[in-house]
Amino acid sequence: MTLQTALRQGSDLLAQAGVPDPRLTAELLLAHALRRQKIYLYSHPEHQLSTVEWIHYGRYLHQRLSGTPAQYITRTQEFYGRPFLVSPAVLIPRPETEHVVEQALQVAPHARRLLDIGTGSGALAVTLSLELHASAVATDLSFDALQVARRNAHALHAPVDFLRCDLASALNTRFPLIVSNPPYIPAREIPVLQREVRDHEPHLALLGGDDGTEIYHRIVPQAEKLLDPGGWLIFEIGYQGEQGVRAALGPQWTDIQTSYDLAGWPRVIRARYTP
Ligand SMILES: C[S@@+](CC[C@H](N)C(=O)[O-])C[C@H]1O[C@@H](n2cnc3c(N)ncnc32)[C@H](O)[C@@H]1O
Repeated sequence: MTLQTALRQGSDLLAQAGVPDPRLTAELLLAHALRRQKIYLYSHPEHQLSTVEWIHYGRYLHQRLSGTPAQYITRTQEFYGRPFLVSPAVLIPRPETEHVVEQALQVAPHARRLLDIGTGSGALAVTLSLELHASAVATDLSFDALQVARRNAHALHAPVDFLRCDLASALNTRFPLIVSNPPYIPAREIPVLQREVRDHEPHLALLGGDDGTEIYHRIVPQAEKLLDPGGWLIFEIGYQGEQGVRAALGPQWTDIQTSYDLAGWPRVIRARYTP
C-alpha cells in the first residue's frame, strides 16, 4: 500500500468515527509510524509501506479511535515553538498556556529566576527559562511528571531544578516571578469532559476542587512568602475561574489584570505582590 492510500484510508476511518481533524491526525500517525517528518508523506506519496510500518500505523489508528490523544501516541507536543516529550503522566501542554509565557515576558523581562508551580511536562519552566535566560525551579506532586519534565529540560538545555513537593511548600527562597497553570476543572465537570481528556490525561492535573479555584487559594499565601516585593504572580485560569481567582488575591496584590485567549475567554490573571 502506498502512503497516499494509507493516508486516505486512515483519514476516512478517523472521520467516520468523528475524530476531530482526521486528515491532520492521519498524517501525524503515519509520519510517526514511518519515524519521519510529515513532509516525507507528500514528497514520497508512492512509498510502499513495509509490513512493520503498516502494523505500527494500524496500531496508532486503533489507539486514536479508542480515544487516546494523538500526542500520547506520538509522545510529543510543540509548545512555544519547541518540541516537548509528553506521556500519560503529564497534561498535554495547550496553546492557550502560551499566554502565560507572553504575559511573563511582558511584565518581567528582566527576571533572572522564576518558579513554576505544578510543572507537568515542564512546558512553562523550560520555555521561560530559555526565553528569559533565567534559571528556574519547578515543582510537581507527581514523580512521573517530574521525570518527563527533567527529560525536556535536559533535551532543550534549560537550566531548571525540579522538586517534588506539594505546590511550593518545600521552598524558602524568593523569586521575582512565579507562574502556575494549576488544576482548575471543578469536580462536577470531570464526568462531562471530552473522553480524550477525562479518560487519558492525569486527574491530578485536572481536578481543582469543588469550584475549580481550590489550588489558587492555596498557592496565593505561599506566593506571598516566596515573591520579592514587586514580583509577579501569573496564573492560567479556567473559563469560569476569573472571579474566584481574583477573590484569592488580598489587598497586598496590585496591578491585577486579566487577559483573554484567542477565543475571547479569560485565560490569564497577573498580579503584583506589593506588601
Ligand atoms: C494543569 S497541569 C499543568 C502542567 C503544565 N504546567 C502545563 O501548563 O502544561 C497541573 C500540574 O500540577 C500538578 N499538581 C497538582 N496538584 C499539585 C500539588 N498539590 N502540588 C504540586 N503539583 C501539583 C499536576 O501533577 C500537574 O502536573
